[in-house]
Amino acid sequence: MARPKVYVTRILPSEKAMNMLREYCDVDLNEKPEPPSREELIEHVKGKDGLLCLLTDKIDKEVMDVAPNLKVISTYSVGFDHIDIEEATKRGIYVTHTPGVLTEAVADLTWGLILAVARRVVESDKLIRQGSWKGAWSPTFMLGREVYGKTLGIIGMGRIGTAVARRAKGFNMRIIYFDKARRENVEKELGAEYKPMEEVLKEADIISLHVPLTKETHHLIGERELKMMKKTAILINTARGAVVDTDALVRALKEGWIAGAGLDVFEQEPLPEGHPLTKLDNVVLTPHIGSAAVETRARMAEMAVENLIAVLKGEEPKALANPDVKNVRPLSEVKMI
Ligand code: GLV
Repeated sequence: MARPKVYVTRILPSEKAMNMLREYCDVDLNEKPEPPSREELIEHVKGKDGLLCLLTDKIDKEVMDVAPNLKVISTYSVGFDHIDIEEATKRGIYVTHTPGVLTEAVADLTWGLILAVARRVVESDKLIRQGSWKGAWSPTFMLGREVYGKTLGIIGMGRIGTAVARRAKGFNMRIIYFDKARRENVEKELGAEYKPMEEVLKEADIISLHVPLTKETHHLIGERELKMMKKTAILINTARGAVVDTDALVRALKEGWIAGAGLDVFEQEPLPEGHPLTKLDNVVLTPHIGSAAVETRARMAEMAVENLIAVLKGEEPKALANPDVKNVRPLSEVKMI
C-alpha cells in the first residue's frame, strides 16, 4: 500500500510524536516557527491524504477543494471552530481533536486568572517594578476581593468547566452552572446547581466560560449579559475570544458594569498592540496559553498524531469531532495503512 502523504503545519513539541508520524507517513512539514500563510497552506495541502493542523490554520472549503484525497484533518487543539466541520463531513473527511489531555492545564490557568484578577496580582507586580511602591503598609492599599466562599458561575460544564469547578471545592465555593443540558454527574460530585444562564449571570461572583465557539455561542456574552452581572463580579474567558463581545466588555470594564476580567483568548489573536483592553488595570491578559505546559503540549502532539494514524489505519480515533462522517464514508474506506 502507498504511504499516506501528510502535511503538518508546525513542528510539534514531542519527538516521539514526530517519529511516530514519520514511521507511517511521508511528512511534508512546515518548519518555520510561524503558521504557513494561506497560500502556503493551499499549496502544501494539495495531493495530501492527511492534514495535521493548528488552531491558527483556517481549514475551509477552499482548502478542502484543493485536496480531494484528504481523508483526515487532525487538529492539535481541543477546539475545532477553525475547521468547517459540515463541509468536511459532507466530503467524508474525518476531523479529530485533542480533548481530555489539556483539561487540567486549562483549568489551572483559569484559576491563575481568577486569583490574579480578584487579588490584583499583575497590577501589584507592575506597581513595584515601576517604582511606585512608596507609602508604608496601608489598610486600604491594593484592595481586591476574596475568592474563598464566594459563588462560582460556570457557563459550559463540560470537561474543562468541571475541572475548574472541582478546584473551587478547595475554595469552599458555591458552584452554579448553565449548560445546554444538565450534568447530573457533576451535580452529584460537586453539589453544583443548574440554573438558567440569566440567573448564573446575576448570582455569581466569578463567571468562567467553558463553551466551544459555535454559531450559538458567538457573542454569548454581550452588553445585555454583562449588565446582568454583579458590579463586583469577575469574568474569566479561557474558551474562545468570540464567545464574548469584546467592545461590550471594554465598556463594561471601563464603566464599572463588572469589576474585572481575566482573558486568555481574544476575538483577534494576537491582540493588536494598543488595544483598548491593554489600557485597563482591571483586566489580566494572557496570550492564549491555556494548554501551554510542557507535559500537556507533548500529550497533545501524541494524541493528534495517534488520531491521524488511527484514521489512516481504518481504526477508530480517540476523539472524532464529526462522528456523522462515518455515515458518509466508513473507516474501512479511508484505510491506507
Ligand atoms: C486551545 O485553545 C485548544 O483548543 O486546544
